[in-house]
Amino acid sequence: MGRIGILKTPHGNVKTPALMPVIHPGKQTIDVKKYGADIVITNSYIIYKNEELKKKALEEGIHSLINFEGPIVTDSGSFQLSVYGDIDVTNKEIIEFQENIGTDIGTSLDIPTPPYVKRERAEKELEITLERAKEALDARKNLMLNSVVQGSTFPDLRAKCAEAIGQMDFEVYPIGAVVPLLENYKYKDVVDIVMASVANLPPSRPRHLMGAGHPMVFALAVAMGCDLFDSAAYILYAQDDRLMMPNGTYKLQDLLEMPCSCEVCTKYTPNDLRSMKKEQRMKLIAQHNLHVSFAEIRKIRQAIVDGNLLELVEQRCRAHPYLLDALRNLKNYTELMEEYDPEYKNSAFFYTGPESLNRPEIFRYLSRISRIPQKNRVLLLPSFKKPYSKNIQNILTNFGRDKPDLEKLGNFYRIKGLKSENSSHIDEQLQVVVVDVPFGVIPLEIDEIYPLAQNESPSLLDGDSKIFVKNIINEYINNFNEVIISESLIKKFDLDFELENFNINELRLQFDDKEKIKYIADYQFGTGAGKALFGTNVDIVKSRKTGKIRHVYDGEDLIATLRASDGIFVLSMLGAERLHEFLEYPKSRVVVNSDAEPFAREGKSIFAKFVIDIDINIRANEEVLIVNENDDLLAFGKSILNAHEIKDLKTGQAVKTRKGGKL
Ligand code: GUN
Ligand code: ZN
Repeated sequence: MGRIGILKTPHGNVKTPALMPVIHPGKQTIDVKKYGADIVITNSYIIYKNEELKKKALEEGIHSLINFEGPIVTDSGSFQLSVYGDIDVTNKEIIEFQENIGTDIGTSLDIPTPPYVKRERAEKELEITLERAKEALDARKNLMLNSVVQGSTFPDLRAKCAEAIGQMDFEVYPIGAVVPLLENYKYKDVVDIVMASVANLPPSRPRHLMGAGHPMVFALAVAMGCDLFDSAAYILYAQDDRLMMPNGTYKLQDLLEMPCSCEVCTKYTPNDLRSMKKEQRMKLIAQHNLHVSFAEIRKIRQAIVDGNLLELVEQRCRAHPYLLDALRNLKNYTELMEEYDPEYKNSAFFYTGPESLNRPEIFRYLSRISRIPQKNRVLLLPSFKKPYSKNIQNILTNFGRDKPDLEKLGNFYRIKGLKSENSSHIDEQLQVVVVDVPFGVIPLEIDEIYPLAQNESPSLLDGDSKIFVKNIINEYINNFNEVIISESLIKKFDLDFELENFNINELRLQFDDKEKIKYIADYQFGTGAGKALFGTNVDIVKSRKTGKIRHVYDGEDLIATLRASDGIFVLSMLGAERLHEFLEYPKSRVVVNSDAEPFAREGKSIFAKFVIDIDINIRANEEVLIVNENDDLLAFGKSILNAHEIKDLKTGQAVKTRKGGKL
């Protein structure tokens, strides 16, 4: 759910995820811009309460007051409200004040209900927060507005709040009142709160996790869909002689060595810092803290582009057992995360530990495997070098011998006691699958589809993945009348079946490319798509260099090309037509309005604002059909975002059109 975005403000654009250092108006001595800040946050209530600051802000504007030319967010005094119980400004007054001092993004006076309060209190305060949100909308002229999600530790109240304010016209949606949870390491509860909120907020708007300023939590928060962070921590920690790192905090008093390679850590030793005057030391530690915080944000943005953010999260969450709790709690949200997970990524899937089993890629695969054709018999093979389908032929055939020698794969058994044991022994009906961690069972026909070939896991198993795969096997074999299984799998996964010996040389393995392309299409587009696309006379063209399937033709006409990098089909116009005819509306469709129709036909990319309807199951990086309101096929292409995002965004590209055509 992590995303790269651009937040547009009157004082410039900001790349997200972004970190906003907290600036204390009047007290600030560090030039945060120098350390990478493109946007900052300060408190309008502190300015409002101080006659001198107030006068200057009203006369010269807030950008001059805090000496920052870029976008400025202001908070409203809600935090003071939560600490002191009362403040002497109204919601309307503080909104108007923020507008008058030239804030870019202002905040209404939400009530930060603490965690674990009685439900009645959370409900009552939420009503006030919602009223004030509406009032802020009426009071603002051009001011961009935050509307904070509240609801204490009640996920349903968070969801209700997010849905209500999400339908109103706010520019940014902070998630509030998590500071007490973060301070007490209740990261697991933060996961429930953030997921309940984000699931109900519009994807087109940035979300700000208020008060989350430690780099240790950034990756996790971004993976849950948060885009903005604020950090007072860089200075608060520095005041306490504490140095932040992405995997925890160091006390200066304990340090023998400086922890990083920033300009402070390379120039000074811990002794140098300890012997300095407090003021100077604090400033240097704050600089270090800013440095590592911005470095972490950059690392996260790179991980999003690379497609391995969850691997970074898994690393970070090993820094503290309660962060590991949070990571494990993410398991409860895999289904939602899968919707936002691109179908194809630049990087391989690396298994970093049992928590990797909860990743969306595995959930997606296991929920789609039933799309491929069903056979009667199955042969379960132990894993070997990927891609399996290519290497099995090398393993089984001795050089120069054309008869596969299955005995090379060890002993095999037949599982007894299945539903039906008297099936006919016809080779065509044999499904060959490889059993491996973490994807479980991989039919050889589809083993080159991402990430089935693009993943690595340790050869020495942990208990969780053993049980995980064991459960997958137990469920999968229920689909078959006859199951032949390798002895090594029985041992490796502690399987307990009633077995009888089986002579593996009874089997004939066949590798039929015409069969294979149908399997891939079924997996990619849905059951039956293979027949619809490739049911005619097909000619398969293979790469001379790699021997892999490249193109599928019907006579002279190209139907589809199998992309080598992720093993899925990219259609031709003919392929798109066949798929369009086969798949019922709205399956795989992106529907554009009549304004966009000529552009689509010319092969121009589709902007989100022209999309009037869409198959809600479309994910990012998927092959899609572009149609008009009458379901006439205009073009085809690749989705850049998922359906929820395309529906909600009013700007930017939704589909990269591959080809349009007058049909
Ligand atoms: N700063 C930290 N938490 C909060 C919150 O819940 N609301 C506002 N307005 N500011 C905050
Ligand atoms: Zn440093």
